[in-house]
Amino acid sequence: MIPVCRLEDLPAGESVRLDLEPPIAVFNADGELYAIDDTCTHQDASLAEGWLEGCLVECPLHAASFDLRTGRPTCLPARKAVRTHPVSVLDGTVWVHVESAQPVPATAPHATAAGQGSAA
Ligand code: FES
Repeated sequence: MIPVCRLEDLPAGESVRLDLEPPIAVFNADGELYAIDDTCTHQDASLAEGWLEGCLVECPLHAASFDLRTGRPTCLPARKAVRTHPVSVLDGTVWVHVESAQPVPATAPHATAAGQGSAA
């Protein structure tokens, strides 16, 4: 399990990007928490920077939409699903259950702390 943030730091309509390998995006969709790979399967845009509407997130680059519950695209140009990951809340902390992701080493040029998305 990987800690994401405090639950109060992820209000409805917001997202958090975890700089893992691969990156993970965690969304609060009207009170329900979802985690998916944060890389659009069309051309690698960050879905954490997309627009959230209900359980759908729209890619900020070419507007493909993904269902957060299944990871499946709901419209073109994306054709391939993103992976989904279980999310839980324990003592007020949001956790994502990812088996294959690893923290980005501190020496990597793009290593940063988990950032905030702007999915509103
Ligand atoms: S990069 Fe996401 S739809 Fe093109």
